[in-house]
Amino acid sequence: MDLGLTDCTAFVAGASKGLGRAAARELAQEGCRVALCSRDEGRITKAATAIEADTEGEVLPLVCDVTDEEQINTAIDETIDAFGDLHVLVTNAGGPPSGAATELDPADYRDAVELNLMSTIALCDAALPHLRTAAAEDDHARIIMVTSVSAKQPIPTLALSNTARAGVQGYAKSLAEDVGPAGITVNTVLPGYTRTQRLEDLAEDIEDRTGQSRAEVEAGWSEENALPRIGEPDEFAAMVAFLASARAGYITGAAFPVDGGRSKHVL
Ligand SMILES: NC(=O)c1ccc[n+]([C@@H]2O[C@H](COP(=O)([O-])OP(=O)(O)OC[C@H]3O[C@@H](n4cnc5c(N)ncnc54)[C@H](OP(=O)(O)O)[C@@H]3O)[C@@H](O)[C@H]2O)c1
Repeated sequence: MDLGLTDCTAFVAGASKGLGRAAARELAQEGCRVALCSRDEGRITKAATAIEADTEGEVLPLVCDVTDEEQINTAIDETIDAFGDLHVLVTNAGGPPSGAATELDPADYRDAVELNLMSTIALCDAALPHLRTAAAEDDHARIIMVTSVSAKQPIPTLALSNTARAGVQGYAKSLAEDVGPAGITVNTVLPGYTRTQRLEDLAEDIEDRTGQSRAEVEAGWSEENALPRIGEPDEFAAMVAFLASARAGYITGAAFPVDGGRSKHVL
């Protein structure tokens, strides 16, 4: 299938490793010019260099903490300066710490909302003028937000994630209505347990709390899935690339789990 991404520009946040990096690589592979950001210059430059070598694409590493609106505005400006346009925005950041609802205090919830919800809103705000231009000029403008299976089916030990992701899902649905008439699509991708540093960190946390071995922790995750295994970042990235593509022009306001069948809802 030709995804029609050649000569498009994408901005991928939180992309020095894990799901963001896999999404950036997949978009570059499909022919996008890709700007990608993280908080650390060394890590994001290394990721960009590897993606460029792998895909022979045009890749721009940017240092940007997505909890800082000024840094977001600068990063989007730098993307436009380098590439001239923007068609695809992928919002992403790290995950908040684990913990049950009553183990956490209001400051933890505020931080999680800043990290996962407010960053999404600020990224969209900064990108939207350019996405509107792209939609008007060549009918291709996409926003894809990375959330979590915890948005559909809360995970008891991830109260911060459960709370902040629900906000992102509500925002995505609202934004899709608002920008639909301009031709911009807005969708969310909900990863299940996928092999990244974040998953490593969560596994260590559970090992410490419960005394379980790594194999037991992973087996516990896998057996909740219809496909009883941990996912790979590339499997997640394929969904992002499809939603970013020209082929996904009539899909908006929708939430797509990539979770090996972990969510048990009928719809
Ligand atoms: N992996 C899973 O199984 C899974 C499942 C459900 C949901 N998720 C969610 O999906 C998202 C990505 O997960 P992941 O597994 O790829 O996480 P990860 O391996 O921890 O990677 C997170 C990425 O985000 C960057 N980042 C973190 N905070 C940032 C900030 N404030 N500003 C800019 N960049 C920032 C990190 O780069 P720097 O450190 O270089 O800044 C890194 O590149 C997270 O929100 C996670 O909770 C993951």
